[in-house]
Amino acid sequence: MLVEWSKELEIGVAFVDADHKVLINLLNQVDECIHQKEETTVLGSVLDALVEYTEYHFLREEKMMELSGYTGLSTHKTTHRMLSGKVRDVYEDFQANPGSVDPIDVRDFLQSWLVDHIMGSDFAYKDICLYNLEAAQAAGQVSFLGDGSTFNEWEHIRIMVVDDNPNFRRLIRTILRAVGITQIQVVETPEEGLDRLADRPADVVLCDWVMDDMSGTEFARKVQEMKLPTRVVMLTGYSIDVLKERSTDLAVTDYIEKPIKARELLETISRVAMSVPTP
Ligand SMILES: [Fe+2]
Ligand SMILES: [Fe+2]
Repeated sequence: MLVEWSKELEIGVAFVDADHKVLINLLNQVDECIHQKEETTVLGSVLDALVEYTEYHFLREEKMMELSGYTGLSTHKTTHRMLSGKVRDVYEDFQANPGSVDPIDVRDFLQSWLVDHIMGSDFAYKDICLYNLEAAQAAGQVSFLGDGSTFNEWEHIRIMVVDDNPNFRRLIRTILRAVGITQIQVVETPEEGLDRLADRPADVVLCDWVMDDMSGTEFARKVQEMKLPTRVVMLTGYSIDVLKERSTDLAVTDYIEKPIKARELLETISRVAMSVPTP
């Protein structure tokens, strides 16, 4: 692991520490995927999540500092803009040409901005913000999906992830946990998924389209035959238009293209979850 969470990184404000843990987790995943050539799709997905979550974290951290009356807010905001711009640049360079990004540079940069910023700038607001519970509570309630989202059932929703790629399973788990989803089952094969669903239902299954022994659509049809109140969302490297042309399968509720985008994944889950009939 590139960076391990430790007490020295702890600010003491619950949502801030939780956000920092998510960012460090994503940073470690960048480091793991960057050395594996076949993991370009996963790396693209991890970098997108890192960009999205960085901007989200900065937004709510700034709200907390503002509500606490922290005088260093303006300088801190400038640092945030610079850091989020750099992370976005890394992602855009990668999108333009995955081979042009130097893994060592990316890793060193991400490590230094993340850890140095927490240990330096973030610790500077600690004394002002730590005991301002109202400010922390208001900032902690800022939604990852923005003000337009009314979905607030993350802690009740039950998700199953079926994917044969361990890096992808880990990334999806990180994204789901980041918004407060705790009821997550993660399995490697469709067969294992079907076995588990019989005992422990899920509201939404996120399923890889192409797997060795059973395709995603076959899995979705079997879930439908079990007559469970479960919706299947297909994750796929194919373009969605191609998939929709190829598939008229009503057992699949929605599709998400890989590399995935964290915001799109969560928006889809919230939309699909709201359509799940109550048993
Ligand atoms: Fe910060
Ligand atoms: Fe921070």
